[in-house]
Amino acid sequence: MNATPANHDVQLGMPALPAPDYPADVRARLAADAKEVIARYPDSRSALLPLLHLVQAEEGHVTRTGIRFCAELLDLTTAEVTAVSTFYSMYRRKAGGDYQVGVCTNTLCAVMGGDAIFEELKEHLGVGNGETTEDGTVTLEHIECNAACDFAPVVMVNWEFFDNQTPRSARQLVDDLRAGRTVEPTRGAPLCTFKETARMLAGFPDERPGAVEATGGAGPASLIGLRLARGEGAPGRGADHVIAPRTTADGPTEEPPSGHPSGQAPPGHPSSHDAPHETSASDKQHPAGPSAEEGE
Ligand code: FES
Repeated sequence: MNATPANHDVQLGMPALPAPDYPADVRARLAADAKEVIARYPDSRSALLPLLHLVQAEEGHVTRTGIRFCAELLDLTTAEVTAVSTFYSMYRRKAGGDYQVGVCTNTLCAVMGGDAIFEELKEHLGVGNGETTEDGTVTLEHIECNAACDFAPVVMVNWEFFDNQTPRSARQLVDDLRAGRTVEPTRGAPLCTFKETARMLAGFPDERPGAVEATGGAGPASLIGLRLARGEGAPGRGADHVIAPRTTADGPTEEPPSGHPSGQAPPGHPSSHDAPHETSASDKQHPAGPSAEEGE
């Protein structure tokens, strides 16, 4: 008789046997790479995160063998390595596809269409969250805010950004990935496979010609705030629309700008929304934005 109603859910079994080691040639290669990574840190255990990326680059996810490898090289316990590897969402716990497709469903992206995109891709690919298509190409997951809210809703593929997505554009994106067609992210380096990306995250250079240069900088929408802080005109308002620079209590003050800087997508980086959205910036009768003195 069960002592508690939940006892029947408890799975008792034999403790797992120690993880097998890598084949000798693989271990030798990884050990040489790991030595290079560890040498970058004053304390070897600080190299754990890049080493987890390194073993992920080998097998596509963090296996028990990879955990054992990291533990041995860093003089940690496998429990300590496991605790770290299961804390961060960039480490996969099971085998996945060549392309990790993450749909941001955090608040802003969700209301801008992220939820609809995620539902569309689940239906289109026939997989759920964290699952991989039968051809082993795409792993779908919903992800938290990627600090790219100004391009919402965003989709990431192997951590590269695809801005201003719609259900239709996201469907086309995964179709292209599955068909092996070239796919260019909106920003960042040209796309590569999950394993190749993991190796770069371990700290090894992107060897593809021109790839580093192609990463560019921040997108125009991200730079609007910086331009305003410098007193430069906001895009889409003409050269004569210049906002005075802000200062602090130590110097002259300024009125915070009222209304959004622009209702238009920045030149060269148009939104790909299916239809224009009515926003506080485009509704002149109901402007939004700071309207009070700072500190009020
Ligand atoms: S909410 Fe999606 S990037 Fe911030």
